Amino acid sequence: MTAHADAKAQDKLFRLDDRVALIAGGSGAIGAAIGEALGRAGASVAIAGRSSERTEPAAARVRETGALALAMVGDVNDPMECERLVEETVNRFGRLDIVVNAVGGGAGTALHPAEQYPMSEWDRIVDLNLRSTVLATQAAVRAMIAGKRGGRVLNISSVRGQLGIDAGYSAYVAAKGAINSLTRQWATEWAKHGITVNAISPTFVETPQVASMLADPDFKARLVSRIPLKRIGQTDDLIGAVLLFCSDASSFITGQILTIDGGLTATQ
Ligand SMILES: NC(=O)c1ccc[n+]([C@@H]2O[C@H](COP(=O)([O-])OP(=O)(O)OC[C@H]3O[C@@H](n4cnc5c(N)ncnc54)[C@H](OP(=O)(O)O)[C@@H]3O)[C@@H](O)[C@H]2O)c1
Repeated sequence: MTAHADAKAQDKLFRLDDRVALIAGGSGAIGAAIGEALGRAGASVAIAGRSSERTEPAAARVRETGALALAMVGDVNDPMECERLVEETVNRFGRLDIVVNAVGGGAGTALHPAEQYPMSEWDRIVDLNLRSTVLATQAAVRAMIAGKRGGRVLNISSVRGQLGIDAGYSAYVAAKGAINSLTRQWATEWAKHGITVNAISPTFVETPQVASMLADPDFKARLVSRIPLKRIGQTDDLIGAVLLFCSDASSFITGQILTIDGGLTATQ
């Protein structure tokens, strides 16, 4: 390869032209920011969520970048719905290359002492975070295997998947820890199909899900003081890693969990 050809290849490393991405939870704060970023990188983006009131504006954000977008309504905790969402994506755009699992959260709504963690809440939080990720990924990867072009799976984990916290988070840490394990397991199983599987693992990102916690000035000040880079993460802080893991730039990177936390876990 000539130096000129190398430069051209390098320019395209993070581009997603002609690629198709499905974002489960693309209507959420993090999912919508990811959709916009993938659209800006050239991908066509299918957004899935349970409410058209949220999926339509998220798709509109993608279209503003000049990319094609499809807003879909469906529940990714239902395997048949996942199958349909993938089918709709492939019918509309002709292929599927990337799935991003951005459904999840709810930790702050289900804080209970570990020794009394209610199973109804356990099931709710584990389903929201883990079952959704498993079902959306299974359906998407079946389409990627059939497409024979490889693919990218990007899971959204959390630092809570790695670290304990004395605050009643049992179900959430279990779900995110399982997502980290599955990231490695799936990476191992699907490498033979050219499909890479990675996760990003943020700490607090300033979004509606954590707004009430961050509204407490003492809590926010304590959190910021523990973060070496001395600020709260924003959805934009996730985009560099998202583009890395969704593009050719990560062709030889799989099974990795990248913490995005301003250095917080480096201090543990
Ligand atoms: N925000 C943070 O500080 C933070 C930090 C670390 C990790 N994370 C992780 O990042 C991910 C996204 O968080 P976020 O803050 O963007 O949350 P969010 O704004 O609540 O987004 C989640 C989206 O998923 C959709 N959704 C929920 N259940 C669904 C289902 N069964 N089927 C289809 N769509 C469903 C929701 O839309 P509908 O309700 O309309 O369906 C919502 O738009 C989560 O996994 C969270 O754990 C967040």
